[in-house]
Amino acid sequence: MNHCAVVLAAGEGTRMQMPGAKVLLPVLGKPMIDWVIGAVLEAGVDDCCLIVGKDLEQVRARVGDGVCYALQLERKGTGHAVRQAEDFLRAHSGGHCLVLAGDSPLISGGTIRRAGRMHLEEGNAVTVISAVVGEPFGYGRIVRDVSGGLLRIVEEKDADPNQRRICEINSSAYWFEVDALLEALPEIGAGNEKGEYYLTDAVEILLRAGRRAGAYVAQDADEILGANTQRQLLTLQQVALGKVLDRHLENGVMISSVDGLTIGPDVVIGPGTVLHQGCRLLGSTRIGAGCVIGPGSVIEDSEIGDGVTVNASQVYRSRVGDKTRVGPFAHIRPDCVVGEEVKIGNFVELKNSTIGKKTSIAHLTYVGDADIGSGVNLGCGVVTVNYDGRAKYRTTVRDRAFVGCNVNLVAPVEVGEGAYVAAGSTITSPVPADALAIARARQENKEDWVKKREGQQKP
Ligand code: UD1
Ligand code: CA
Repeated sequence: MNHCAVVLAAGEGTRMQMPGAKVLLPVLGKPMIDWVIGAVLEAGVDDCCLIVGKDLEQVRARVGDGVCYALQLERKGTGHAVRQAEDFLRAHSGGHCLVLAGDSPLISGGTIRRAGRMHLEEGNAVTVISAVVGEPFGYGRIVRDVSGGLLRIVEEKDADPNQRRICEINSSAYWFEVDALLEALPEIGAGNEKGEYYLTDAVEILLRAGRRAGAYVAQDADEILGANTQRQLLTLQQVALGKVLDRHLENGVMISSVDGLTIGPDVVIGPGTVLHQGCRLLGSTRIGAGCVIGPGSVIEDSEIGDGVTVNASQVYRSRVGDKTRVGPFAHIRPDCVVGEEVKIGNFVELKNSTIGKKTSIAHLTYVGDADIGSGVNLGCGVVTVNYDGRAKYRTTVRDRAFVGCNVNLVAPVEVGEGAYVAAGSTITSPVPADALAIARARQENKEDWVKKREGQQKP
């Protein structure tokens, strides 16, 4: 079947009172548009056109070129938005098109598929996905005849008091027969309260033309929640978090407190892992079994092994091996691979570095652009001096080396296997394996210096 999807994402989010594309606002750290495109793919539709406005480049930078784009430079309503995809739709003539709103991220692939099945079975020209909610304010209402047949969708502003009492609402997700949609689009007018071209009017237009229209009621009303305002965005976030937490709790993740917890929908967590309050686990993060995470940790797009502790620390786009301890107050910046049973202690920053098994970097240390072997000890206050103001250079510290406290390793430089570097050294040339490097002024004691100085002072 020649299925395709059109996602409406040209809204400016005026009601959010924030600049930029509304569909890029995050829900659990994941932009709304990513949620919607995920649902399209989950529903088995892979040819997707995004309707975007002046934020095209911003949206494209996030979404990429796996979808095509149609521009809607003037925001004249959802019907006008879909019209911008007429060429795309014509290329799918004879098929069916899913239309979704970019600001309704919780719709699931399952609901879309079930609605699609009903759409085909009933031979509908349009099937609206609806839901019955307790608080319908602000949504378009589904108006049915006495026998339950779909008649039309009425927007909040255009509804009469009786219609406003209807609790079945339009999700803004629809299946259309492509050719029927192409016929209906030019018929849509803007004679309503808002003066916009409403896609919702396509229902009445198609019924008048003798075509069939139906509404599929979503089993889980939460899936249709839209985000027009900051309050709705927050509500959506809470609903989404509830669903994510349920999944992890069922899988044996222990959550000591949900206060301040954010867990992205794609995060994977192994059984027996404990999450403390205030953690933000985001993006494609995968956490193993038996870990302790938090309080207040941020882990984004990272892979954490089994039995790891991340205590009040941050990890970005990196890998951390089994049984490693991170924190408190450590910062692992992108592109690090930290081995097993490593200790990364307080006020340690790592960036673009590899750290071998059982290495200890326990306090106040910066490791950037470095390859640190296994069984290494970096003392308190070791600094890889990786930047000369123009370019970055790498530091290598081989297995079992011992680097004393307050040492500068001026890159490019290498400390050989098993070598020692004396505390306070500034190392600028290679240290051979098993050698001791001392690179600091020798201590000189001036005997009785203080007494002599006092003797010189005037009484
Ligand atoms: C819309 C529906 C309403 C439904 C609700 C569900 C219409 C007329 N109304 O109302 O029945 O209950 O969604 O959340 O469709 N957009 C564009 N270009 C435009 C206008 C909108 O791309 O010119 C996009 C927006 O970015 C948004 C989506 O279309 O992603 C829906 O538009 P919005 O203005 O939020 O519609 P609602 O008032 O929420
Ligand atoms: Ca909306």
